[in-house]
Amino acid sequence: MASSSCFLRSILFSSPTNLRSNHHLPTFFPKNHLICSHSTSSRFESLSVSSIGTGSTKKSSDTRRKVKSMATTNIGKKEKKRVEIYDLEENLAIDLAKFTADLSDKFCKERGAFTVVVSGGSLIKSLRKLVESPYVDSIDWARWHFFWVDERVVPKNHDDSNYKLAYDSFLSKVPIPPGNVYAINEALSAEAAADDYETCLKHLVNTNILRVSESTGFPKFDLMLLGMGPDGHVASLFPGHGLCNESKKWVVSISDSPKPPSERITFTFPVINSSAHVALVVCGSGKAEAVEAALKKTGNVPPAGSVSAEDELVWFLDKPASSKL
Ligand code: 6PG
Repeated sequence: MASSSCFLRSILFSSPTNLRSNHHLPTFFPKNHLICSHSTSSRFESLSVSSIGTGSTKKSSDTRRKVKSMATTNIGKKEKKRVEIYDLEENLAIDLAKFTADLSDKFCKERGAFTVVVSGGSLIKSLRKLVESPYVDSIDWARWHFFWVDERVVPKNHDDSNYKLAYDSFLSKVPIPPGNVYAINEALSAEAAADDYETCLKHLVNTNILRVSESTGFPKFDLMLLGMGPDGHVASLFPGHGLCNESKKWVVSISDSPKPPSERITFTFPVINSSAHVALVVCGSGKAEAVEAALKKTGNVPPAGSVSAEDELVWFLDKPASSKL
């Protein structure tokens, strides 16, 4: 990968911390992370709210996990959609780690690679159990390919950088090969960086690292891990913004993001919704109304209500975020 003609190039210092402090980089995360561098009535019946979870990694937790079954409804022929509600964010994080690790095992065995996309925001903190025992030692990190669903066009050592956020709390703690981490080229304009990232994805399709959805023709990531803003935005797709309707491009730029910073790039809905598995991770009472609108499809349905997946969509909610369901 790293040596392919894939329009990727190494950046000299990939650690945002290192950029500031000149500390040594971990040996498994050296100076060559790659960047893309080429120039109704409630439709609640369609939702499966399956449980209030209490985490599943401790002994006997399987019996404790399904504490309360709120509703179970089968939906759609193909896509499985469910909502998991946790008494505590801590237990959500435990189950999210197991969910991710199980998919990692499956895809690493089935296809020798696992393509994972993350958002910025609090999602990264909710992934913290993955970098702890047992997962930090059991996951086949060498087969991971790591992407961002959206990124702010700022230097990688900037506090607003989603790369820095993921690096500091996640990437610096696991041995994902640097060549498998696809950061944006923030030296480009937002528009050029979006084109560059899309070109990078197309190369990864050509080299069979990234699959393509047979039904949509868009890239099919194995797992997309998304947060949601209080207004119901996902990625950098904001309520009422025209980019929510983009139907052709894979990656687009936005220069008027209502959430600062204003310059960003983002995957489009056709890409998000062509994923095999999507996890939408939402915590806190400040997001309860958007969760309600997205899941019950009431009022102005926010962008999060348009998220789907080809195989499985799971909403991971804590109790406060689910309080209006
Ligand atoms: C970004 C994110 C964005 C984020 C939501 C939720 O770069 O801004 O990718 O989509 O996931 O805004 O963020 P919080 O979980 O921090 O509220």
